[in-house]
Amino acid sequence: MTTPWEYRYAQRTQRMASSAIRELLKLTALPDMISFAGGLPAPDVFPVAEFQEACTRVLQTSGAEALQYGATEGYFPLREMIARHTARYGIQITPNNVLLTSGSQQALDLLGKIFINPGDRILVESPTYLGALQAWNAYGAEYVPVPIDDYGMIPEALEEALRVGPKFIYVLPNFQNPSGVTLSLERRYKLVELAEAHGVPIIEDDPYGQLRYEGDHLPSIVVLDDQLHNSHDGQYRGNVIYLSTFSKILAPGIRLAWVIAPPQVIDKLVQAKQGADLHTATFNQIVAYEVARGGFLDQHIRTIRRVYGERRDVMLKALDQHFPSSVLWTHPEGGLFLWGTLPDWMDAQEIFHEAIQRKVAFVPGQSFFPHGEVKNCFRLNFSNATPENIRLGISRLGDLLYEMIETPQKIMA
Ligand SMILES: Cc1ncc(COP(=O)(O)O)c(C=O)c1O
Repeated sequence: MTTPWEYRYAQRTQRMASSAIRELLKLTALPDMISFAGGLPAPDVFPVAEFQEACTRVLQTSGAEALQYGATEGYFPLREMIARHTARYGIQITPNNVLLTSGSQQALDLLGKIFINPGDRILVESPTYLGALQAWNAYGAEYVPVPIDDYGMIPEALEEALRVGPKFIYVLPNFQNPSGVTLSLERRYKLVELAEAHGVPIIEDDPYGQLRYEGDHLPSIVVLDDQLHNSHDGQYRGNVIYLSTFSKILAPGIRLAWVIAPPQVIDKLVQAKQGADLHTATFNQIVAYEVARGGFLDQHIRTIRRVYGERRDVMLKALDQHFPSSVLWTHPEGGLFLWGTLPDWMDAQEIFHEAIQRKVAFVPGQSFFPHGEVKNCFRLNFSNATPENIRLGISRLGDLLYEMIETPQKIMA
C-alpha cells in the first residue's frame, strides 16, 4: 500500500539503504548460531556492577543535574578527563578541542553534515568502515578508494589518489575495521607528509587504538600532525579530526564517544549537533564519567585486552588447524576483527548462506568496499564468542570451506 509520503522523500534518501550487515545480523541472531558477524564487545566484560553503583551515586549526589538538559559540547569534567588522557600521548589539547557525541557514528554523520557537498570526493581505505560510507552516502559523497595491504594504505596509491583533490582522507590506523591491519609507523609519517603537501585534511577514526594485544603502541595521526602544527597556545589547531569512543572500552549501549578537533571545527560541529539532538544524554555522560574516573578505565582496558587477546589467539590457532591453505587471513595486533581472503573465484556471500545453515555466521566483505568490487573476502569478529565457541565455529566453517573448494558444485546445487 502506498502512503502520501512515498513520493516526498528528499533526493538524499535515494542513496540511503539499510546496512547489508544489519540485515545479515538478523539471520545471525537465530538460536544456536555461533556468530563471528557483529562487531559486538563481549557481554561478560561489561562493568555492570560499576555502572549500577555509579547510577545510584549520580542520582543521590547530582540527580537534578543528571536529569536536566546539558551543554551541546558535553559534560565538562568528562571533556577535561578526555583532554588529560589525550595529553598523555604528548599532544597539546584543552577541553575546547573536545566534543562529546552520541557514539562515533553520530560524529561521522555530523562531519558529513558540515563538510560534504554532493559530489565531493572522499579518500577512503579499501575496504573501509561501512558505517562511514552509510553516513556519507546521504550527503552525496563520492569515494576514492585506496587499496591497503598488511601495513595499511599503500603510499604510492595514496599519492595517486590525492591527485583527484579529495575533500578529506578518512583513515582507521589501528586494527582497522574490517581488515584488522595497522598502519605502520613509516606510513603514518608518510600520510601526514602527503596530506600536508596536498593540503588535504584527515579524519582519523580510532575506536580500537587502546585494544592492542601485541607489539608497541604507535603514535596517532593527530599526534604526528601536532608535531608539525604545534600552535604553542596549548590548543590543537592542526589538520586532523580524531574520533574515538567508549563503545569498545566501556559499553556501546551508553552511546558515548568523542571528537578532538581544532576549536573552530568543534564550534561548527556543535551547531550541527544542536540540530541533531541538542546534546548527548546528560545522565549517560555523568555516569560514564563516574565509572571511568579514579583509574577504573585503565584497569578495565587491561581486562579487555587480556580477554580479547586470548580470543584472538584461539581464533588464529583454530584457523591454522581448520582452514584450507588456499584461504588467507590477517594477523591483527589488536581490535576486534580479522579479515579473510578466499580464492578469487569464490563468493563470500554464497558461503555465508550455506554457513548460516550450519549455524555459524560471518560478514561477507563486499559491502566494505566503496564500490562493492570485491566478492571473495570476509570479516570475522573474535571478541564476542567464547573461546569454546570460537573453536567450534571455526571448525564448522573450515569443513564448509574444504567442501566448497574441493567440490563446489555439490554445495551450490
Ligand atoms: C571504525 C568505526 N568507527 C565508528 C564506529 C561506531 O562506534 P560507536 O559505537 O561509537 O558509534 C565503529 C563501530 O564499530 C567503528 O568500527
